[in-house]
Amino acid sequence: MRYLLPFSLLAIVFVGVGCTPKAGSGSAPSELSADQLKERGKVIYVSSCIACHNVDPSKDGSVGPAIKGSSLELISARVLRAAYPAGYKPKRETAQMPALPHLEKEIPALHAYLNEK
Ligand code: HEC
Repeated sequence: MRYLLPFSLLAIVFVGVGCTPKAGSGSAPSELSADQLKERGKVIYVSSCIACHNVDPSKDGSVGPAIKGSSLELISARVLRAAYPAGYKPKRETAQMPALPHLEKEIPALHAYLNEK
């Protein structure tokens, strides 16, 4: 029993990990229509970005600059690595934005939302 308990806990952890991606995959960004992708991007933007960026991404926010029209390259460099694409001239010289790598899957959605007409 002393050895069984850690093993059964491990099994639960593995089952849990195995299930997590499945639960979200029903609405994986790649399966969404262009409109759905934009909608999803808006939800992610509002929940993860407006603490610093403006609710209206075409305007400067409390801390972060306007980011409407940002390229996919710029969004992924910033969000995944808090970096910039080679040769890109940042709007701000500060380095206040943390990387948010857990949003990797959502980059296409954020890009669709930030580039909607
Ligand atoms: C903690 C505050 C904060 C959060 C949260 C945040 N940002 Fe930022 N962001 C900034 C700041 C401040 C800058 C300016 C550069 C710097 O100081 O890092 C910036 C810069 C950027 C830039 C580069 C703008 C340019 O052209 O130079 C992009 C793109 C960007 N943010 C996207 C996002 C996205 C998308 C999210 C949400 C997933 C997000 N940011 C969340 C604060 C934040």
